[in-house]
Amino acid sequence: MQPSRTLLLNQRFLLFLTTLLVLSVLLSTAAVARSGGHPFSFYAHQQQQQPQQQQQQTPLSTNPNPNPQLPPQPGPPEYKYFHEAGPTYELTHYDARYFRGPIPYDAHRAVLTDLIRAYLTTFSRDLHLETWLAHGTLLGWWWNGQTLPWDYDIDAQVSGATLSVLADRHNGSLHEYRFENPTTGARETRVYLLDVNPFATAAVGRGEGQNVIDARWVDVGTGMFVDITGLVERDPERRPGVVSCKNHHVYKSGQLFPLRETEFEGVAAMVPWGFDGILVEEYGAKSMVVTEWEGHRWDPNAGEWVKINEAKTEGVL
Ligand SMILES: *[C@@H]1O[C@H](CO)[C@@H](O)[C@H](O)[C@H]1NC(C)=O
Repeated sequence: MQPSRTLLLNQRFLLFLTTLLVLSVLLSTAAVARSGGHPFSFYAHQQQQQPQQQQQQTPLSTNPNPNPQLPPQPGPPEYKYFHEAGPTYELTHYDARYFRGPIPYDAHRAVLTDLIRAYLTTFSRDLHLETWLAHGTLLGWWWNGQTLPWDYDIDAQVSGATLSVLADRHNGSLHEYRFENPTTGARETRVYLLDVNPFATAAVGRGEGQNVIDARWVDVGTGMFVDITGLVERDPERRPGVVSCKNHHVYKSGQLFPLRETEFEGVAAMVPWGFDGILVEEYGAKSMVVTEWEGHRWDPNAGEWVKINEAKTEGVL
């Protein structure tokens, strides 16, 4: 009686030890996956939600994936997600769903000003997410902290990590923004939609080029929008610290960070640390010198771009 009972106890003890061992292996694997978080990687973030599934499929696999940066899963076949109002230069600046006719030159500035103010304050104050000015919007900031008057859209960038937060938690959300009508002085409200492209985090590359914009902040009253692109470290093994969007804009993370706190259109904004180098790379040194551009002339006294000839440029924009 006695020896077999001891044996049974020993077996139970062994089973207990094995369970402990299995548990500790599982826990440390999960910890490694979690510590793989990186601001420019959305794969590490995606993986956090899947470890249980993977472990069920291959319990104590002999080949637990040592690299937390899983290659992305092939997504659904690609189709163009965002639809603009039309193919002409003017119509590509409106979301087809909310387009109610082109906004005349004299009115579009006010729409874009509210658009970017609402975007910047919602991101920093409500969502606590980091975003910074890019492309033509960054150039406008460099000249006088305002949108270039011949620009019909706004460009901003986010990190890959922020992009996955947008996709997971904020896609389809509507945001109200109250402002004072400059002519009537009345308090008015505009509503904006945060729309995240389903291909934003599914594909690493440019694909067929139909989905280079990862997300949009759309004014549902006019269809005008902020284009949001995510900068991701696409080849961490061979090109660490090099990030890019899907449209081949490439940056070293030292060019971007730390971001500089500044103002744009009268609200708090962020710009890349090396904004001048970025602007010269993208638009050439002339973009910071030439004072006549797209039918506008720089007025150094007013610190503004003014339209040269109303009659001549009307319609061209
Ligand atoms: C965002 O929401 C739209 C509308 O429901 C959907 O079509 C799209 O796939 C969503 N994007 C992501 C990243 O889930």
